[in-house]
Amino acid sequence: MLTDTTFPASFLWGGAVAANQLEGGYDEGGKGLSIQDVMPRGIAAPPTTEPTPDNLKLEGIDFYHRYAEDIALFAELGFKVFRFSVAWSRIFPLGDEETPNEEGLAFYDRVLDELEKHGIEPLITISHYETPLHLARTYDGWTDRRMIGFYERYARTLFERYGDRVKYWLTFNEINSVLHAPLMSGGIWTPKDQLRPADLYQAIHHELVASASATRIAHEINPDIKVGCMVIAMPIYPLTPDPADALKVMQVDHQNLAFSDVHVRGEYPGYFLRELREAGVELDITDADRETLKHTVDFVSFSYYMSLCEAATGGRAGEGNIMGGVQNPTLPASEWGWQIDPVGLRIVLNQFWDRWRKPLFIVENGLGATDVLVEQNGTMTVEDDYRIAYLRDHLVQVREAIEDGVEVWGYTWWGPIDVVSASTAQLSKRYGFIYVDRQDDGSGTLARHKKKSFGFYADVIASNGASL
Ligand code: BG6
Repeated sequence: MLTDTTFPASFLWGGAVAANQLEGGYDEGGKGLSIQDVMPRGIAAPPTTEPTPDNLKLEGIDFYHRYAEDIALFAELGFKVFRFSVAWSRIFPLGDEETPNEEGLAFYDRVLDELEKHGIEPLITISHYETPLHLARTYDGWTDRRMIGFYERYARTLFERYGDRVKYWLTFNEINSVLHAPLMSGGIWTPKDQLRPADLYQAIHHELVASASATRIAHEINPDIKVGCMVIAMPIYPLTPDPADALKVMQVDHQNLAFSDVHVRGEYPGYFLRELREAGVELDITDADRETLKHTVDFVSFSYYMSLCEAATGGRAGEGNIMGGVQNPTLPASEWGWQIDPVGLRIVLNQFWDRWRKPLFIVENGLGATDVLVEQNGTMTVEDDYRIAYLRDHLVQVREAIEDGVEVWGYTWWGPIDVVSASTAQLSKRYGFIYVDRQDDGSGTLARHKKKSFGFYADVIASNGASL
């Protein structure tokens, strides 16, 4: 088979998931509750007081018991890398204990054993929307400075346990989403409409310090570890050529970019400090915080699903990956209203490379769609040509960006196996190359079936992109 010479031979092809969206076993192995265990509607409704049977995440797709079978399927796809998160409340059930839960640590040892068996490189997200519930309720999540210490202890525990077998780490999933989803992203229990800007910005500061501190700890424990930040990447286009629209775009972009600017440059950018001044917010930043922030990341990773527009005077609201904007009249959209824009991925890759000159890692990209299971020659499958088209079109743009000179380490498709959606908590919003028989009402056998896209992605990986 021909192999593409644009993608480097070391290119890390794979897939990405998060513990709360697939593991299940929410109360097994000594695990404590996380915020997700009381979010049966995702970000669409307020949390419940305790876990309720309609919450699909409690059982997920039962990866907690079926990880070996699923990892074998990823190996069949040819994965070089598998991105997954550790459930914080498996390791520290409440979050503020002194000692970790050994049973939780042992579970991820077993996951890593399976990956090693198949020669798949792990990429771990330390915190992916699954703050221990106790930390959210008792401390109001990241608004409280003590969270830095709890996170440091948790991260250190992971680096000490797995640091010699896991090279790639991400500190927080989509850290910039805390602006839009304070509970899911920042474990902030105060409802969004009651949250004071001062508390939100202080929470952001605590997360950024914790992230830099984790980077320092990781490098102390093993200098070969590569730590990345992870942000939502969403190109914003001006709705019209009016400079007022372009200025609005710059300001919205700044909101998104500020997080990686701090991660990469080790200090707050001027435009962010201005925003604080104008909002009348005075952050509590200590000298020690400033020193910690200087521990910058080794690479920048991001999710990319879509682009949006902005206009100074508003426009038709667009649906989005956590954040919203104005609809682009030129682009098609998914069934969930996310506008599909492969070229935007090339634009973002170039923009990020030009801005930071740090290696980039696309750690999420994908299409959520309704799939129909059909029988073909006695085998159950899904004819998901729409997913194949999305994948191909985006990878072609990754290749273009590499031709542009951008350094890209890898690409992990979001949800290579169907998982529970983060925003809507549905199973019917499917991303996988592998269909999981579980429905929104909780019914189903949990059997796994390969979709048509399974073979397509396997060929792409085997040919290092030449089959595109
Ligand atoms: C990202 C998250 O925002 O998008 C994932 O990091 C999430 O956790 C993914 O699943 C897709 O979003 P959704 O809401 O369709 O699951």
